[in-house]
Amino acid sequence: MFLPRLLALFLCTAATLNAQVSGSPLKIEVRRALPAEDEPKPALPDTATLPRVLPANRKSVYSRCETALKLIAITFDDGPDPVLTPRLLDLLKQRGIHATFFLVGKNVAAFPEVVSRIVAEGHEVANHSWSHPLFTQLGPESVESQLRRTHDAIVKACGTAPLLYRPPYGAVRISQRTRIEKTFGYPAILWDVDPQDWKHPRSAQKVYDSIHSQTRPGSIILCHDIHETTIAAMPSTLDDLTARGYRFATVTQLIAFTTPPEIMGPPAPSPASTTPANLTVPPSSGVRDDSVKSKTVDVKQEKALQSP
Ligand code: NI
Repeated sequence: MFLPRLLALFLCTAATLNAQVSGSPLKIEVRRALPAEDEPKPALPDTATLPRVLPANRKSVYSRCETALKLIAITFDDGPDPVLTPRLLDLLKQRGIHATFFLVGKNVAAFPEVVSRIVAEGHEVANHSWSHPLFTQLGPESVESQLRRTHDAIVKACGTAPLLYRPPYGAVRISQRTRIEKTFGYPAILWDVDPQDWKHPRSAQKVYDSIHSQTRPGSIILCHDIHETTIAAMPSTLDDLTARGYRFATVTQLIAFTTPPEIMGPPAPSPASTTPANLTVPPSSGVRDDSVKSKTVDVKQEKALQSP
């Protein structure tokens, strides 16, 4: 017996709603405005315009950068490889993505034309030592030689001086790190996303899955452009991240974008005394340390002893 009443009520309500919606443009405006208020979406920067210079108040070591925006950096270590790196460059070029390559010096010397192409296509080149030794087992002169030879080989190959280094296996003593920073002006770059693509056998699907699940705003993703499976994983991995709203910057761009303006400290230099953009050694007075790091270096060292 309630059914006819219910039906009548439903029809009446539907008719009223219909009349309100069709008769009141205000209702439609309110409905449009709601999602924007609930989900504010700050604009991602145009990565083509982001600076490629490290800020003076950068940190000494990074495993990721602090940002709420979906800006990330993907990095490729241990190359260049004469076959796989050009294949990767094709994939990146098709997608308009810029990456950071942590190059091994002896490979730079062997394949300088690949390094030249990396830079010509807008990617960042960085220092990953000459022969990939464990720094913690080397004396200061050997570490300096490893980085100096590589720095010079990169400049010779492409004309661009690296601004960053990544210690092989992510392992470096704090005393070594301090000395490297003083000598070369490099911050140490680690990572927060590790697909362990060097483990064999390792499928492209596993590389994709790891990067898919670990990446968050400000991530620095570790990959190696010397493994087939890594290259095979890249089309779906890059397209997945892009579809989820992530945008790729080089590591230097990511650091520059996410470093807050210096609040404490000396006044900004006048234009006449500004550090030239191509100077690779920033003033050490602006460098500050990061307490996060002693932990990260130790962990990475232990983990990475098995990696290439
Ligand atoms: Ni490496």
